Amino acid sequence: MNVPAARPLVEVQDVSKRFTPHVSIGERIAAMLGSPVETRTVHAVDNVSFAIRKGEVLGLVGESGCGKSTLGRVVAGIHPPSEGRASIEGVAVMGEGRTPLKTTTRIQMVFQDPFASLDPRVRIGDTIGEGPLAHGLVAKADVQAYVARWLTAVGLPAEAAGRFPHQFSGGQRQRVAIARALAMQPDVLVCDEPVASLDVSIQAQIINLFLKLRRELDLTMLFISHDLGVVRHICDRVAIMYLGRIVELGAAADIFERPRHPYTRALLDSVPKLVTASDELVTFKPIQGELPSPLSPPPGCHFHLRCPHARERCRVEVPRLEGDPQPAACHYPLAP
Ligand SMILES: Nc1ncnc2c1ncn2[C@@H]1O[C@H](COP(=O)(O)OP(=O)(O)O)[C@@H](O)[C@H]1O
Ligand code: SF4
Ligand SMILES: [Mg+2]
Repeated sequence: MNVPAARPLVEVQDVSKRFTPHVSIGERIAAMLGSPVETRTVHAVDNVSFAIRKGEVLGLVGESGCGKSTLGRVVAGIHPPSEGRASIEGVAVMGEGRTPLKTTTRIQMVFQDPFASLDPRVRIGDTIGEGPLAHGLVAKADVQAYVARWLTAVGLPAEAAGRFPHQFSGGQRQRVAIARALAMQPDVLVCDEPVASLDVSIQAQIINLFLKLRRELDLTMLFISHDLGVVRHICDRVAIMYLGRIVELGAAADIFERPRHPYTRALLDSVPKLVTASDELVTFKPIQGELPSPLSPPPGCHFHLRCPHARERCRVEVPRLEGDPQPAACHYPLAP
């Protein structure tokens, strides 16, 4: 008997997000006097669709500026999409008229810079307890024990609750930020480059913490990183993003071993690696050319100016994200 597949927990459908630069009063006056004013639109996210199942960790990878944070913020209900819809169990995270729905408490975000996301004047116990108290997740009498539980879960001592953010190291502050997000008992955690600002040895500790937490809590995560090495350890599936579009999506092992999209291949080749375990020699091939500006992305396949396989069709026709189970947006995908 065929068991119908459960509805994904998170669904992102045809989401686009554009930013139009603010026109200053000076520019408006200049326009009235006849000078042209440039109001070019940034296509930060361009018609993106994907889904995340409950308990799944989806990695979102791409070079800086390709739209990862913007997409993460749309999923978390922080940015309204220009078009399309992000939903959790079928309910839009951003309501009509751009009001965040209550569902957004079901999605929490962890940011790259833990210091910036913590109020320096507030003891971290209060920072962690504030949201759960406000949303009735815990009674006032129990909040201390509740905070202690989440501090312990992220590997900090319960008495850390009485300290201020500056009394913690970078890695510890990120643990606090993770505890604060998890204390809201979200269904989904959106992590935006959560280890990018940490030293490499601390990065490994925080990645291990995420691995432990996802085992213990069955976490569903959108895990954003510009670093393929980081997502390799943590994600079930990986989405590769280039200039606002998802260009490949697949199981993490397949993306790493058998990429279909030339950009994924180029990203993998650009990661430094040892030729042999005993060899000192490090090889890597940087991606050729510059990342084009999202203000004026090239027509057709956005990657055609940098792609070693580009042909005439690539310059004019936008490739669709196609193929099952590893869709790639490429007219001439790589052989496995
Ligand atoms: N609030 C904003 N206003 C205008 N442009 C923005 C804003 N946020 C992001 N952008 C632009 O959108 C593009 C994608 O940015 P971002 O989502 O931060 O990429 P990433 O996280 O992959 O580095 C960039 O060109 C960036 O300058
Ligand atoms: S569509 Fe063409 S330019 Fe784009 S990645 Fe594929 S081969 Fe390269
Ligand atoms: Mg970012």
